[in-house]
Amino acid sequence: MYRMVNIQEKIKENRDVYSIIFRDDIKVKPGQFAMIWIPGVDEFPMSFSYIGNAKGFTFKVIGEGTKALSSLEVGERLFYRGPYGKFYTEKGEKALFIAGGTGVASLAPFIEDSNFKEKIVVIGAKTKDDLFFIDRLKNKSSVFTIFTEDGSLGIKGLATDSLKLYNFDSVYACGPEKMIRVIVDQVGNKEMQASLERYMKCGIGLCDSCAINGFRVCADGPVFNKDDLILMKDLGRNYRTPSGKISSY
Ligand SMILES: Cc1cc2nc3c(=O)[nH]c(=O)nc-3n(C[C@H](O)[C@H](O)[C@H](O)COP(=O)(O)OP(=O)(O)OC[C@H]3O[C@@H](n4cnc5c(N)ncnc54)[C@H](O)[C@@H]3O)c2cc1C
Ligand code: FES
Repeated sequence: MYRMVNIQEKIKENRDVYSIIFRDDIKVKPGQFAMIWIPGVDEFPMSFSYIGNAKGFTFKVIGEGTKALSSLEVGERLFYRGPYGKFYTEKGEKALFIAGGTGVASLAPFIEDSNFKEKIVVIGAKTKDDLFFIDRLKNKSSVFTIFTEDGSLGIKGLATDSLKLYNFDSVYACGPEKMIRVIVDQVGNKEMQASLERYMKCGIGLCDSCAINGFRVCADGPVFNKDDLILMKDLGRNYRTPSGKISSY
């Protein structure tokens, strides 16, 4: 059930974001995720940030699980199950990609591999030290813009301010739910897909921990289209704790 791979490369992307790269011959589509198992510590979901022959995960160290993941070194074993979930699909010719925080990890393979005529890439972060994948994505974009909340790099403001700046047919988003809520509310008649993050246990549609208004993020998503996102009244407003209790953001 678990795949076991050897870590080939470990990259420090910024002060608390790492990528781990490994070889695995499974097929992964952009936007899909895996459940990473760190024996004796935890199991948690992570988007594939590299999906070619070399696969990878890119993560921010925030708690025990991601700390243990960041302590793995080249040559050590990594266990995971997947790939799971729905992936991004190409709609229209001009795509606007809006990535908030670590959301860029999920969008990066789609930005690289998709065949849109125009790719407008927007990366948003609180401050410049939180950014990563700039060099990776700059060359793949027709337009590349950074937004920082404190103005330390790029345009001062929120990544969602880009909705008013550019013409596009479809928007692809991954980041905090409040960011995705703003896009859903402002996108009008354009196409939209967004990848959501909810607390996950099974990762395969059995336990309901990741439920939002009747959708299971692990099995019905994590990538949802606009029609589904519109039906999610809790999006950006309420979340589920690990015990299943509903709390407000
Ligand atoms: C589909 C999906 C894809 C994701 N992709 C990425 C990614 O590419 N890069 C990245 O840095 N993070 C990603 N995450 C978030 C990642 O799962 C959490 O950062 C990680 O689980 C934190 O674990 P921890 O033990 O370090 O922190 P903890 O201290 O255990 O938790 C800190 C916070 O992380 C989140 N979290 C913890 N456990 C889970 C869980 N089982 N399911 C969902 N959220 C959890 C919660 O918001 C929690 O409050 C993704 C989440 C989902 C659902
Ligand atoms: S994590 Fe169990 S149903 Fe989604």
